[in-house]
Amino acid sequence: MTNQSVVRWGILGAARVNERLMPAIVDAENAKLIAIASRRQGAAAEVLAKYAPQEIDVLTLDDPEALLNNPDIDAVYLPMANEEHTEWAIKAIKLGKHVLIEKPMALSVADIEAIEAAAVKHNVIVMEGFMYGFHPQHDAVHQLIASGAIGDVRTVRTCFSFPMKPARLYRVTRDIDNGGGAMWDIGPYAIHTARKWFDSDPQSVISMAKLNDSGADVSLSGVLDYGDGKFAHFDMSFERARRSEYEIIGTLGGIKCETVWNNPDDRPVVTWWTDLGERHSLELEAANHFVLEVEHFSDCVLHGKMPALSISDAKANCKTIVAALESVRLDRKVEILKE
Ligand SMILES: NC(=O)c1ccc[n+]([C@@H]2O[C@H](COP(=O)([O-])OP(=O)(O)OC[C@H]3O[C@@H](n4cnc5c(N)ncnc54)[C@H](OP(=O)(O)O)[C@@H]3O)[C@@H](O)[C@H]2O)c1
Repeated sequence: MTNQSVVRWGILGAARVNERLMPAIVDAENAKLIAIASRRQGAAAEVLAKYAPQEIDVLTLDDPEALLNNPDIDAVYLPMANEEHTEWAIKAIKLGKHVLIEKPMALSVADIEAIEAAAVKHNVIVMEGFMYGFHPQHDAVHQLIASGAIGDVRTVRTCFSFPMKPARLYRVTRDIDNGGGAMWDIGPYAIHTARKWFDSDPQSVISMAKLNDSGADVSLSGVLDYGDGKFAHFDMSFERARRSEYEIIGTLGGIKCETVWNNPDDRPVVTWWTDLGERHSLELEAANHFVLEVEHFSDCVLHGKMPALSISDAKANCKTIVAALESVRLDRKVEILKE
């Protein structure tokens, strides 16, 4: 790959999230979109016409296997439904493709281990698609914490929600075990942002949920216990107004980010305060975290670098999600075992 200046991308699935990722692959400096495939006839062409109509040379295929067998494709973006990620990631890896897998990478740690083993065997890179982490607003938060401005981190609170539109209700007609519900959909963000600010893993979790008739969680809240009085509270729902935020409380003050999901033109504001009465607002430059994600992954492919989001991190997030769902099922606190 080192004599190439761009990574040649294929998209596996005519998913709605292509509204964000397809233009990002087109706009990324070190990426070129070669093809998109869907299992539904005409759907790939429809998505291209909708989100990148100027890209007239992009192949639109009605067969994902044909995309995977195309030797002109180096990397695949995989936005299929959550429960399909493992099967299709492994198919792509076996054909030598690097894979950017939408969150959640898979529905079990065992599945992520299977993806990892295949990636090692076939010498390709895989990464879980948490685009949000590539926005510089979170670097600003990290710097504030590192400066000691809020003291030691003791509590984190994360909230992710939006009212589910009737047209999208099929996302909650599968039960939790089959990838349905809020935890597998927006929960990966709530758990990832709840884990991001502590330097150790949570020891246990307790959570509760409202399940619908299909056995999918439409609202779920809980607490991760990090020991020594450190907690992360997470809250997610398809029945609340739109929120994508986290708050970090330390021994001396707090930091709040309310724009984890944002549009490329949005100028995020991170606010922070201290017990001494200080109140600050950091107005940051707009950034397109989808483009930054694609450029990072492409850079890793081109130069053999390790992705910023490791497979170990994907496993730790999955382990925490599974434990939180187990807590709902058992109606009690669940220990999160170390590897
Ligand atoms: N990073 C982000 O900001 C973000 C945002 C939203 C979702 N996601 C993640 O991205 C993945 C896709 O989410 P999504 O909401 O975009 O999924 P979606 O629109 O429901 O599509 C998922 C898959 O289902 C198939 N599909 C799409 N529309 C369909 C329809 N009308 N009838 C039958 N099948 C259909 C498509 O495969 P075929 O084309 O092969 O049929 C598609 O790849 C999930 O893993 C999700 O967690 C990420």
